[in-house]
Amino acid sequence: MMHRKTLSAWPGVLEHYRAHMNWIPEGAKIVTLQEGNTPLIPAPRFAEQAGGGFDLFLKYEAVNPTASFKDRGMTAAMTQALARGAKLVICASTGNTSASAAAYAGRAGLRCAVLLPHGKIALGKLAQARMYGAEMIALRGNFDDALRVVRELGTRPGVEVVNSINPVRIEGQKTAAFEICDILGRAPDFHFLPVGNAGNITAYWRGFKEYHQQGMISALPHMCGFQAAGAAPIVEGHPIADPQTIATAIRIGNPASWEGATTAVSESHGLIESVTDTEILAAYSMIARLEGLFVEPACAAPLAGLLRKGRQGLIPKGSIVTVTLTGHGLKDPDTAMDQNKVEAQVVEPNVDAVLTALAD
Ligand code: F0G
Repeated sequence: MMHRKTLSAWPGVLEHYRAHMNWIPEGAKIVTLQEGNTPLIPAPRFAEQAGGGFDLFLKYEAVNPTASFKDRGMTAAMTQALARGAKLVICASTGNTSASAAAYAGRAGLRCAVLLPHGKIALGKLAQARMYGAEMIALRGNFDDALRVVRELGTRPGVEVVNSINPVRIEGQKTAAFEICDILGRAPDFHFLPVGNAGNITAYWRGFKEYHQQGMISALPHMCGFQAAGAAPIVEGHPIADPQTIATAIRIGNPASWEGATTAVSESHGLIESVTDTEILAAYSMIARLEGLFVEPACAAPLAGLLRKGRQGLIPKGSIVTVTLTGHGLKDPDTAMDQNKVEAQVVEPNVDAVLTALAD
């Protein structure tokens, strides 16, 4: 007799957490790529670098269908757009939202246009938007300019905005907080994540709070958000006209969910701080080498923040800390290649040549 483990099919975040999704129109066709159900990976070697004494788990959102957390919100936005009979879905993006929107729109059979800051999108994300068939428009401006134009276009009939200013995006993204609690059997003590347009920190806090109100968890985490130093409007307390950072995903000077972020931080007794590009790049390399996780630079912002907080002794012994790794390292191959200039040694195809190379 053959013994076989039965793998149950994961239906995607909207079906799995349908009881928490009262906005889904009756009878709506769910547009999904079976996003979510991402791993929560222990990272003891990185935790050690951050001072140790606590348990660290990384929510690896890179394994979503388009390799970032955006898919959780896009299943929701596209399901709603289809139900409403949208003619065109649009978004502004630093790259990941556009990749996700393009994929889900294609699947839904909807026309999709993405507005991108010219010259500032990581290569892999551009490749995705092209392959999924979005109409790409590069603006001579930054993400904030693109979002302003999108807001104006969104008032036209038949046009559906799928940025996180669309409330159902947040509804989809809150499921990541549910998954963390479902796996841990409790909430973490601290949750770290990068902050750009601030939709995700808003979504996680909503998710944790909902689970708490429903008695699924008995305590709430402290929310710890990190911006890049050259693009840290919330930390500095005012919009940044010309945001700059190597972490192009979070190169945003006037976040749409500003208030959501400050509410999450104050209600949770958390914090929002900035980290320099130097700190980001150090954590970016460290997480790849110590834990085998290749992430894009934006994900390294909260990791750099954790190194700082842990080394300052601000993580109490025995704590459970979770960090969201929002997007895959393969999305930004240029930064990876720039970071590490070590070339392969080219040798003849025999054992001696390889051993000689290894002896160096
Ligand atoms: N990490 C990555 C990889 C991102 O792509 C983004 C945002 C964030 C973090 C920040 O999340 O905006 O919810 O605070 N990317 C958006 C985009 C802006 O267009 O792809 P946030």
